[in-house]
Amino acid sequence: MGNNLIQMSYHKPVLLEECMEGLNINPDGIYVDVTFGGGGHSKEILKRLKNGKLYAFDRDSDVLENLPESKNFKLIQTNYKNIKRFLRLEGVKKVDGILADLGVSSHQFDVAERGFSFRFESELDMRMNTSSSLTARQIVNEYSQEDLANLLFQYGEIRQSRKVAGLIVSAREEKEIVTTSDLMSVLDGLVPEKNKNQFLSQVFQSIRIEVNNEIESLKQMLEDSIDLLKEEGRFVVMSYHSLEDRLVKNLFKRGRFSGEVEKDFFGNVLKDLKEVNRKVIVASDAEQRENNRSRSAKLRIAEKVKC
Ligand SMILES: C[S@@+](CC[C@H](N)C(=O)[O-])C[C@H]1O[C@@H](n2cnc3c(N)ncnc32)[C@H](O)[C@@H]1O
Repeated sequence: MGNNLIQMSYHKPVLLEECMEGLNINPDGIYVDVTFGGGGHSKEILKRLKNGKLYAFDRDSDVLENLPESKNFKLIQTNYKNIKRFLRLEGVKKVDGILADLGVSSHQFDVAERGFSFRFESELDMRMNTSSSLTARQIVNEYSQEDLANLLFQYGEIRQSRKVAGLIVSAREEKEIVTTSDLMSVLDGLVPEKNKNQFLSQVFQSIRIEVNNEIESLKQMLEDSIDLLKEEGRFVVMSYHSLEDRLVKNLFKRGRFSGEVEKDFFGNVLKDLKEVNRKVIVASDAEQRENNRSRSAKLRIAEKVKC
């Protein structure tokens, strides 16, 4: 299979032009794509570089299929929460722009045995990095009822979280919950048919977030990225669910993830970023028709104000 073909089927990049505009690329600058995936955004950044450099991160080894051949490019295969440490090893202390296209790639959803999707029969796995130890199967079978209820509520925003956790615990006392369809049969009949897909997406999302410790990694990466940006450097972040978007929005608007904002003597909010777009950017109707995944995308762009 040719390289292009692999990339086309791996993941179709979302809001590509809008992200490039947001990065406002200096051809000689240093850029970071913290979520390389199929490399759609990276390849577009590379087209705009002359003497500049692009560092890309991804924790999934499947992305090694998609690497562009370019002297301006380096992939660092690790969790993006390590961005500062790994860039320092490359001798990089400050960068001109950072792009984050959060969450899971279409490839990860579409490869049945990765266990991310309830559309396919597979063992419950959901690890983005297949050499990490915690799997969805362990969470579903070993977490306490209370921990399960908490993660369903916090990461899936499931109102019946306690009931769902109770059902999982009773079912696993009879027989271990091993596969996606085992889990789906435990949840069968809990919500009306018309809400079933939405509900299952929320359950699977919440388990995936826990498997990959996504929220802690995201917070660490967001904070460290702000430190890494040069003055006027751009931070371009795309998220696909409200939990992620809320963190990005609060950090961009209020300078912190939660709680009271800090203000100076004149009442100005103390923060290191200013928003480039006040309103969140979403995909056009045409892009949404063409690429289902773009429907939930929310793009926020900010600029570093001081170092
Ligand atoms: C939405 S895809 C990116 C798609 C990419 N922009 C493209 O156009 O092909 C997200 C990618 O980020 C990676 N990822 C998610 N969380 C990560 C983390 N904490 N550290 C490193 N990579 C991560 C996933 O493995 C996935 O490949």
